[in-house]
Amino acid sequence: MVKGEQMYEGKAKKVFAVADDPTLCIVDYKDDATAFNGLKKGTIVGKGVVNNRMSNMMFQLLEKKGIPTHFVQELSERETLVKKVQIVPLEVIVRNIAAGSLSKKLGIPEGTPLKSTVLEFCYKNDELGDPMVNEYHILAAGYASKEEVDTITDMALRINELMIQFFKTINIDLVDFKLEFGRCDGKIILADEISPDTCRLWDSRTHEKLDKDRFRRDMGGVEDAYKEVFARLGL
Ligand code: TMP
Ligand code: ASP
Repeated sequence: MVKGEQMYEGKAKKVFAVADDPTLCIVDYKDDATAFNGLKKGTIVGKGVVNNRMSNMMFQLLEKKGIPTHFVQELSERETLVKKVQIVPLEVIVRNIAAGSLSKKLGIPEGTPLKSTVLEFCYKNDELGDPMVNEYHILAAGYASKEEVDTITDMALRINELMIQFFKTINIDLVDFKLEFGRCDGKIILADEISPDTCRLWDSRTHEKLDKDRFRRDMGGVEDAYKEVFARLGL
């Protein structure tokens, strides 16, 4: 397996081809952090290592529970071999406790437990600022088929149940998170990452924020929060 040319550089990761296998890619996690659609930029030292290793742990846990993912093999602290997918252009957000944009939009104070799980879709498009879309928009614009939306919905809700249970064991409340899915051999599989960049993780007892909100909101202690999650995961 030979690391090939860089195919793409995103805000938090680079993606490389695998010279001798066109069905695979290598993702390389950076320490770069952005927020508000790239408007705010910074570095979180060691973030790439935490996100790579945490994501791989979560994907392997989910695979064991029957969720198909792009994970193939961890190659180094920052690099992972994954299945090449065509990304479905949707950010799939699952919420258990009110926070962030939901609190702003609906005026529900942060930290309020939601009476039922909220699922949101956003169209992945930086120029448009990732607008929220519903199933009608998704089908009308052709971002995904009805069957794909149904599969993604089922998988996202199942992933939520599994992740809530898991985080409870390390005294973390899973407030909300964002998932991305890809198409691979005609099937929908979980792709992208699951990390403190893409989840809101609060200490169950103190409600301290252990995620990227510390960077988004200039709260300080950003690196320490990532390190704390890493340690609780036993990584
Ligand atoms: P929000 O409250 O800002 O809409 O964020 C909901 C969740 O999605 C939160 O866990 C952070 C995550 N998220 C991303 O992973 N990427 C993004 O670009 C945004 C806006 C949120
Ligand atoms: N990563 C996103 C961006 O910079 C935003 C975020 O995570 O808050 O667009």
